[in-house]
Amino acid sequence: MSPAHHAAARALLADPLTNKGTAFTEAERDAFGLHGLLPPHVGTLESQIARRRRVLDGMADDFHRYAFLRELQDSNEVLFHALVQADLPRLLPLVYTPTVGAGCERFSEIWRKPRGLFLSYPNRDRIADILADPALDRIKVIVVSDGERILGLGDQGAGGMGIPIGKLALYTACAGIHPAEVLPILLDVGTDNAALRDDPLYVGWRNPRVRGEDYAAFVDSFVEAVAARWPDVLLQWEDFAGHNAHDLLGRYRDRLPSFNDDIQGTAATAVGTLLSAIRRTGARLADQRIVLFGAGAAGSGVAELLVQALQAEGLDEAAARARIWAVDRDGLIVSDMATLTPPQVRLARDAAEVVDWPAQDLLGTVQAVRPTVLIGASGQAGSFTEAVVRAMAAGCARPVIFPLSNPISRAEAHPADLLAWTEGRALVGTGSPFGVAGVTQVNNVYIFPGVGLGAIAAGAHRVTDGMFMAAARALGAMGGEGDTLLPPIAALREVALGITVAVARAAVADGVASVAAVDLTEERIAGLMWQAVYD
Ligand code: NAI
Repeated sequence: MSPAHHAAARALLADPLTNKGTAFTEAERDAFGLHGLLPPHVGTLESQIARRRRVLDGMADDFHRYAFLRELQDSNEVLFHALVQADLPRLLPLVYTPTVGAGCERFSEIWRKPRGLFLSYPNRDRIADILADPALDRIKVIVVSDGERILGLGDQGAGGMGIPIGKLALYTACAGIHPAEVLPILLDVGTDNAALRDDPLYVGWRNPRVRGEDYAAFVDSFVEAVAARWPDVLLQWEDFAGHNAHDLLGRYRDRLPSFNDDIQGTAATAVGTLLSAIRRTGARLADQRIVLFGAGAAGSGVAELLVQALQAEGLDEAAARARIWAVDRDGLIVSDMATLTPPQVRLARDAAEVVDWPAQDLLGTVQAVRPTVLIGASGQAGSFTEAVVRAMAAGCARPVIFPLSNPISRAEAHPADLLAWTEGRALVGTGSPFGVAGVTQVNNVYIFPGVGLGAIAAGAHRVTDGMFMAAARALGAMGGEGDTLLPPIAALREVALGITVAVARAAVADGVASVAAVDLTEERIAGLMWQAVYD
């Protein structure tokens, strides 16, 4: 073999997109000069999965399983995805929430191989050059974060990269987007997490966060470089702090196909699950009294999609908004509060409405409103107290309670407590998996893979609110077993297919598609989904 052949053989094994490990056949070993670089045993994908499962079983904790899976992804993508898809209920919590939270917090500790792109502020003049890499020619979906609000864990700086990596793993696992077509990006503008900056092992840029006009200019040059490099790429914003999340979505959603998963994906997931819940209770959406706890990016997104869903039931906008009471850190959001964000202003109740209320905190609001639906997106652990839940349950037969905050350590309540305090009457949905029977995991993973593939399948040049409403309705119509409101995690691939078809058709209806509706059949879209098998 020539030196070039030797180098090519090593490159084949080093690239996670081409490496098959022990599953290279004898013929492939002959053709590519792999003999000697691999042990003699010729395995199969199935035997490789079995080997990795045994390793996972023997590990002490989930964080180490997460780190192991990250390394596997960086050495053999087909095997990683085949392993994940073969047992989504077990693997999803390891590659995504809740374990990905620790993966972000300890990112520097487990950093091994490059994946995706770190665009740091000191490299701001090199962005176009970095994106020009021919290895990135096929990119169709980008998930980008600046690491400022990672799950409910705050500013994780460069460690926030764990989130785009995890989300894109799920794009592939659930929607079959080819691993060569996804790109995680971390905008490293520094961190205000002093402990990280002081940690000698921290891999990010040791600087307080760049803010204001400099931040805006940096993000702007990033978006322009992305749009120039891949005009049709889908750009998903992920785990930005609330103020930036809204601003960036507003600024760029009409520039390229783009959405913010914390705002819009959460909204579609929560509304879809709520639609499923009220089908169960037999009530109309328009008759619900909805208390929302935590009106940040996720909470206000949920509220706005709820308003649209209520309007679709015939209410005018004012009547729709009147069904929602939003509580944030200073209590019920009312119109005379001085420090409201623009999305909160739209949710404010008339101050006159509440003057007689004894208290306007969550408990006071629940006592006054007697809600039928309580949704938490506050990141405040334990805030759905026994008193709050019992007050709610006293006023309705089947309370719908969704403590959505992630990870588990930030959940507004433990679902077992919610069931106990309501004598089992509550329909409960949580952001992270708790393993409690009859409790639904209300996680964006039900929505974003299908939204992404739907936008791609339709050739959408924008991502519209209508596409998210279509996703919510499709999800709500799928239902679940017993008291669970959504299909099981094991069915996420079928879920993504159903959502994709609905989203792609909504893109056509909204006039943003470049593919005709007749081409958006389930069969055709299923054919677009990559399978994790060796060629
Ligand atoms: P955010 O920071 O934009 O919003 C949090 C909101 O909670 C803010 O408005 C904040 O003022 C409010 N808040 C803080 N302390 C409070 C208190 N003591 N009482 C009432 N409100 C309080 O964050 P974002 O993106 O909205 O996420 C919030 C939580 O929702 C996180 O834990 C996140 O993990 C979770 N989430 C869950 C998703 C799911 O799929 N289940 C999806 C997206 C977010």
